[in-house]
Amino acid sequence: MDEKPLLRFITCGSVDDGKSTLIGRLLHEAKSVFDDHLTALQGDSLRYGTQGGNLDFALLMDGLQAEREQGITIDVAYRFFSTGQRRFIVADTPGHEQYTRNMATGASTAGLAIILVDARKGLLPQTKRHARIVSMMGIRHIILAVNKMDLVAFNESRFQEIVEAFSRFSQAFEFRSVQAIPLSALEGDNVAAGSSRTPWHSGSSLLEHLDTLDLNPAMSSSSFRMPVQWVNRTGTDFRGFCGRVAQGQVRPGDQVQILPSRLASRVREIVVWQDTLEQAGVGDSITLTLEDEIDVGRGDLIVSADDPPSQADQFEARLLWMAEQPLMAGRPYLIKLHSKEVSGTVTAIRCREDVDTGARLAAKSLGLNEIGIVNLSLGQAVAFEPYASNRTLGGFIMIDRLSLDTVGAGMIDFALRRATNLRWQALDVDIKARAELKHQAPRCIWFTGLSGSGKSTLANLLEKHLHAEGRHTYILDGDNVRHGLNRDLGFTEADRVENIRRIAEVARLMVDAGLIVMVAFISPFRSERKLARDLFAEGEFIEVFVDTPIEECERRDPKGLYAKARRGELKNFTGIDSGYEPPEKAEVHLKSGEEAPEACVELILQKLR
Ligand code: ADX
Repeated sequence: MDEKPLLRFITCGSVDDGKSTLIGRLLHEAKSVFDDHLTALQGDSLRYGTQGGNLDFALLMDGLQAEREQGITIDVAYRFFSTGQRRFIVADTPGHEQYTRNMATGASTAGLAIILVDARKGLLPQTKRHARIVSMMGIRHIILAVNKMDLVAFNESRFQEIVEAFSRFSQAFEFRSVQAIPLSALEGDNVAAGSSRTPWHSGSSLLEHLDTLDLNPAMSSSSFRMPVQWVNRTGTDFRGFCGRVAQGQVRPGDQVQILPSRLASRVREIVVWQDTLEQAGVGDSITLTLEDEIDVGRGDLIVSADDPPSQADQFEARLLWMAEQPLMAGRPYLIKLHSKEVSGTVTAIRCREDVDTGARLAAKSLGLNEIGIVNLSLGQAVAFEPYASNRTLGGFIMIDRLSLDTVGAGMIDFALRRATNLRWQALDVDIKARAELKHQAPRCIWFTGLSGSGKSTLANLLEKHLHAEGRHTYILDGDNVRHGLNRDLGFTEADRVENIRRIAEVARLMVDAGLIVMVAFISPFRSERKLARDLFAEGEFIEVFVDTPIEECERRDPKGLYAKARRGELKNFTGIDSGYEPPEKAEVHLKSGEEAPEACVELILQKLR
């Protein structure tokens, strides 16, 4: 494609550092040659847009657009300009308290960062923070813009002092190029052309540097990978696979493999609008047709056959948390990695990284804007590249399964071995055989409700009935299990999530053993009850909502715990200072405050029959 190359960059610094002035000045100096950019955009919109040929600005946002659809509010302004050499998209991120999320979002697609420093103030803690985030998001080229040089009389030694301090500090990061430029954004020195007021500065101006920097010398030699964004079926026999080349190059005739299916084929044509291409490379949005009629769908990867990427379902990853609700290890989320969506959980939070110092701190959960290193476990294996070598194939977002909000952005560091060495063992005696021997249909009957709502009482009564009928049963009761298996867990949100995760797994093993299992746990959160439900086959899981009003539970107060909680002697007590999310569609809904226990049990028995 003969368009001018596109460079996305991000500016970091606060308003005081002169960020807006600098961006304004850049646009002005570049005369903001908007027209040819618009022409290119027009072409793109015709090809891939959803606006029926109208300009589709969303195309410019690509990666971000996905996040926007996911309901995350990001405060990033994009500006477009071009020079004779290149087209540019600047992400301007405000520096207020959401800085981490905004910066990370802006940085995730950028190839370069301008880090602004006020010459009078020198490096500030926020400069270091910005450098750290930019490095974490995979930006390898930095312009250290030492601004307001006019206010320090274009003093060379002041400039050098700042440059040296930054160079000492940035050794910890993997930047490939750091270019320092003395600037006055306000007066225009060294923005477009060299300034006579800095004769001691031999380097190029900001715009010259943006125009000429060699961005990706190594990239073009790596192997071809393209995530399939959608399958285009037009006419009776055209089937094209559309996406953006994430790595390497492709030509007609190339041998390719489809992942995860590992089916093989060859590229027939590279189609762009009504043309065919002899070759396409990184960043190109194309449609591929293949020689063979094979099954390829959205979320699949088309890769070079002689060097396919690895696939794994367990990773170590860096995670930036973006939600008010903290991250809980063990809670299931949706994970979107390139164009694939799978279920996944963080199985362990290894540590939290201090954004200002890089220090690694112990952490049980991650709060808003915090960054952690975590173990991630996915519901199925996915093809990937480490984020450090490919941001498209190694970056992912985490989505809350109930609200569908984006709650985290992550970067895969490497796959964890475990995945490849563990296999589910197929056994000859299975659930069906065990169930037949016991003459029963194995079930998990999951009681949820407040403390004192009557879960244990009802489970106990139900078990007596089933036992008398000759059924093989077991009760997993919150208080009992917390004496042994879950002795290490308390009542924080994180501990409750883990409590339910373990018990759901135990219940599943017991159902697999052919038993009718009754689980009586408060299980206050929808997410974990859904996690439990998802472990079972259709119809095996019966959720029983023991819906007793809190006033009634408190009146009964069998263990005196409500009284204690009211006196402030018991923290995180469900219904008092810890939440309970009632089920939306439980299989059985019991008003145990109004109905006698026998009647309630009868309702459950009906459901079982
Ligand atoms: S759950 O929330 O993690 O599902 P679980 O059912 O295991 O709770 O345990 C609840 C039981 O622990 C209650 O019935 C009560 O006896 C006891 N308990 C002690 N402290 C608390 C607390 N802070 N909140 C709720 N239950 C508590």
